[in-house]
Amino acid sequence: MLLLLSYGLEVASLQLPEHGSNTKYVYASLKMEQPEKVIDFSVNINPVGAPKVLKDRWGDWFTAINDYPDPYANELMEELAAQENISVTHLLAGNGAAEIITLVARYLAGSKVAVIHPAFSEYATACRNEGCEVMEIVLAAPEWNLEASALADKLQGVKAVFLCNPNNPTGIHYNREAVENLIEVCKRTDTLCIIDEAFYDFLPEPVTYIDKVLHQQHVLIIRSLTKMYSIAGLRLGFLAGNPELLQKIGRTKPHWSVNALAMKAGVACLQDESHTGETRSFIESERTAIFQRLRQLGFEHSSSQLNFYLLKDPALSTQEKLFHYLLKQGLVLRHTENFPGIKGKWLRVAVKQSDDNKILLEALAAWKQGN
Ligand SMILES: Cc1ncc(COP(=O)(O)O)c(C=O)c1O
Repeated sequence: MLLLLSYGLEVASLQLPEHGSNTKYVYASLKMEQPEKVIDFSVNINPVGAPKVLKDRWGDWFTAINDYPDPYANELMEELAAQENISVTHLLAGNGAAEIITLVARYLAGSKVAVIHPAFSEYATACRNEGCEVMEIVLAAPEWNLEASALADKLQGVKAVFLCNPNNPTGIHYNREAVENLIEVCKRTDTLCIIDEAFYDFLPEPVTYIDKVLHQQHVLIIRSLTKMYSIAGLRLGFLAGNPELLQKIGRTKPHWSVNALAMKAGVACLQDESHTGETRSFIESERTAIFQRLRQLGFEHSSSQLNFYLLKDPALSTQEKLFHYLLKQGLVLRHTENFPGIKGKWLRVAVKQSDDNKILLEALAAWKQGN
């Protein structure tokens, strides 16, 4: 019996999980039997896996569990600060970016906030849990262009706006002009500009706005280490922003929320210079080949630059049938029912190891033949 189902997302009397991963909940919610072999395309974690150094050094870190972890994660923050060219006072460590989002929402409690969609669902969920009024600004598919100047009126009286860049679920990267415009518009409207860069390091040439926090008091940058370093089970993320604001946001953080093993692993990951480069070239070559084949087969995809993309069969108005067809074969894609503006019109798919990508492409070819 899977008790967690009651926390899922209600879609036409079914309760689909709100996030990817943990595939058993998708099958349970649809009352389908999970096949013996499942390939999880619903989770967007690095298919290359965790850096080898974690396995090599894991045993050495064992004694770290005997003591309380450093509540300020100093060693990790110093490593991050050196890499990002900022000071540790501009950083706040979190138990995954998810904890950071919860803390930010708590800081915003009761105010009016905006989310630029499509976007990770947790910004709106966490803010609503804190009694915020959430305005949904939905960009138009299939380009999802961001034109910040058109948002100036909407952002009047809004305390904070969330932008997911590069974007989950589309994989699209908004260009520098658009993001800098948004930062400028937010300055004029006195709105906090919160940019979630959880996937920035998957971009073929990573672009970050973290340096903005040094001079722009109203910019916050959210980062995650769980995606690139494949440590989602360990939980590690951080927030960058002006020190005064971070102090306020950090006030409600549980004292030891980042565990000792996550800190050790985080430092080792950041010092591994080859992992990110290898990952980026692997993803780019796989994604290019996948997109070429998808187009040959007559599917549409988002112009993703990341380790996942949106997929649709243009012959269908919603992708439910395709979703179920693949589930029956143990191929679990991510539904999009809780992404405003996308809602079932696309499926999100992770780029996995080559053999797995091939299996999916073969299943999609067979689908096209039968439909
Ligand atoms: C855009 C985005 N931000 C943040 C998170 C949360 O990441 P973490 O595992 O660090 O909590 C996710 C997780 O899927 C995400 O997609």
